[in-house]
Amino acid sequence: MTFEEMAEARYSVKKFADTAIEQEKLDKVLEVACKAPTAKNAQAARIYVLKSKDAVAKAGELTACVYGAPVVLLFTYNRDEIYHYPQEPEHHSGDEDCSIVATHVMFEARELGLGTCWVNNFTPAKAKSLFEIPENEEPVLLMPIGYAHPEFQPLPPHTRKRPMEEIVHLL
Ligand SMILES: Cc1cc2nc3c(=O)[nH]c(=O)nc-3n(C[C@H](O)[C@H](O)[C@H](O)COP(=O)(O)O)c2cc1C
Repeated sequence: MTFEEMAEARYSVKKFADTAIEQEKLDKVLEVACKAPTAKNAQAARIYVLKSKDAVAKAGELTACVYGAPVVLLFTYNRDEIYHYPQEPEHHSGDEDCSIVATHVMFEARELGLGTCWVNNFTPAKAKSLFEIPENEEPVLLMPIGYAHPEFQPLPPHTRKRPMEEIVHLL
């Protein structure tokens, strides 16, 4: 599959099958995630693999968007490692670093036949306390991952795209 085909084929999975993820697939997804570029190569993102019954149940306390996934990934960044933009020191790369790592996960998962959903509908402070995340880390997103339920179809927003001219501007 070319990258373009994969970009077409990927969609948010909002109902997962009751099927475990093969450990080799999960390992591969995480390995590819660690290849993502990061600002100043600081690699400030962290991934928590919520896989035990207890951890997945706790993820369900955080958000209604676990969708029956067997595994949920929690992405955070380490505040002491993020890059602060010199022109605007209050602006930093934490969210960007996490996002590109999570995007690698999303597409590698797709390549391996797994589905994902990006979830930001949760309270970061609650995630920190539920999972005893170190004080200097900030949760950015959750990502349920697993096999799509056979009856699940991409939701209408998947194909509802703005015309390209609204998004791309040639100057
Ligand atoms: C930054 C971001 C946050 C999102 N948060 C949620 C969320 O909290 N819950 C959810 O069900 N989907 C969430 N989504 C998935 C979007 O609803 C979905 O990507 C969008 O509707 C397009 O559909 P598609 O991914 O199937 O192409 C999020 C996606 C992004 C990129």
